[in-house]
Amino acid sequence: MMTIFEKFQPLAETRQQLQKNASNFFNVVMEEIISGTEATFNGRRMILAGSNNYLGLSFDSDCIEAACRAARREGTGTTGSRMANGTFSGHVALEQELADYFGRRRAIVFSTGYIANLAILSTVVGPGEVILLDADCHASIYDGCRLGGAEIIRFRHNDVEDLEKRLRRLEKRKTNVLVVAEGLYSMLGDRAPLADIVAAKQKYGAYLMVDEAHSLGVLGDNGRGLAEEAGVEDGVDFVVGTFSKSLGAIGGFCVSKHLELDLVRYASRPYVFTASSSPSIIASTRQALRILSTRPELRRQLWENANWLYQHLRDLDFNLGPELSPIVAARFENKEDAFKLWSNLLEGGVYVNLVLPPATPDGHTLLRCSVSAAHTREQMEHICKAFTDVKG
Ligand SMILES: Cc1ncc(COP(=O)(O)O)c(C=O)c1O
Repeated sequence: MMTIFEKFQPLAETRQQLQKNASNFFNVVMEEIISGTEATFNGRRMILAGSNNYLGLSFDSDCIEAACRAARREGTGTTGSRMANGTFSGHVALEQELADYFGRRRAIVFSTGYIANLAILSTVVGPGEVILLDADCHASIYDGCRLGGAEIIRFRHNDVEDLEKRLRRLEKRKTNVLVVAEGLYSMLGDRAPLADIVAAKQKYGAYLMVDEAHSLGVLGDNGRGLAEEAGVEDGVDFVVGTFSKSLGAIGGFCVSKHLELDLVRYASRPYVFTASSSPSIIASTRQALRILSTRPELRRQLWENANWLYQHLRDLDFNLGPELSPIVAARFENKEDAFKLWSNLLEGGVYVNLVLPPATPDGHTLLRCSVSAAHTREQMEHICKAFTDVKG
C-alpha cells in the first residue's frame, strides 16, 4: 500500500526543480523591515515589489500610532471569538464605519480575508442551492464554496455569455443562485466586466458577491472598488474584502445591503470558531479606512507608478496581463525560465512574487509585481533595471 506521503511526489519534484534553479525560494526571510517597500535579506537591501501594500499604509505613521495606543490600552490580543469575549468596542465601531463607507446597511469584520470568504460562502448558500463562480476566483473562494455544500458551477473567466447561458439553464430549477466574481483578479490584475455581470444576475434573479480584495483602495473615486468605478454598487449583494492589502494590516470583512447579513454571524463556523482580530489591528485598520477617502492622492500616485512599470515591462517584451493595473505580472510558459529570472531579480536586489500553477490562470508561471504608491521613482527605476538585466 502507498504511504500517506506518496501523493506529495509531484510537489517534491517541483521543489527539487525550484531548489536547482531558484535556491532561495524557500528561505526568503525579511530580516530588517526598513519601510513598506524595502527590507534586508541575507544582509542586503532589497526592494519589495511583491507586497500588496498598494497605498503604502503598512508604514503610515498615524496607523502605527493608532495600533500602538490600542495595544497599550487594550492589550495584544482579544483571546476570544467574536461570539464570546472577543467583541471589543473597536470591532463594532469598525463594522459601522465599513457600512457607512460602503453605503450598506450591514458589515461584519472577520479575522482574515480568507476567513471572510469561508464564512460568507459557506453560510449564505448551502445544499440545494447553487454557486456560479468565475473560474479564476481565488483559492479562498473555492474553499468557502466547498465548505457550505452548495452545488458549484464555474463559468469561463470574465465570460458573461457563458455566465448567462448557465443562469438560463438554472432558471428551470427554481433554486437560489449566488454569482461570485472578483473586482481585480489577483493573479493578472484584470477587472471583472461587472456592469454586464450585474445586468445578468438581475435578469435571472440571482444574488451577486464580489471580492474586492485587490480593488479596495485602488479603484473608484473613493476607493470603494470596482463596483464604485463601474457605477453598479446597488447591484452587488455582498462585498467581501481584506485589510491585508490597501489597508496595510490583516483581517477581512463583508458588507451588504441585506439586513439579514447579521444572521450570518450565528450560522457561520469561521466567524464563531476563531479568535477575533487584536485591538491594534482594528485600530490601524480604522485609521487606514479614513485615509482611503481622505487622501485620493495616494491612489493617483499608485496608478502613476503602475502605469510606469506596466509600460516599461511591456516595452521589454514581457508577456504581461491583459490590462493595466497595480498587479503587473509577467507570464511564462516554461517554469524553469521563470525560476531563473526570479533568482536573478533577487540577486539584483528586487523581490517579486514567483507564482506557480495551479494558483495561476492557463498553467502559466508568473513573476508578479504589486506596485505601491510608496515606491519612489528611484525604486521603480531599480525594479525596471533589474528586469532589463535579467532579460539580457
Ligand atoms: C481575491 C482574494 N481574496 C481573498 C484573499 C485573502 O485575503 P487575506 O490575506 O486577508 O486572508 C486574497 C489574498 O491574497 C485574495 O487575493
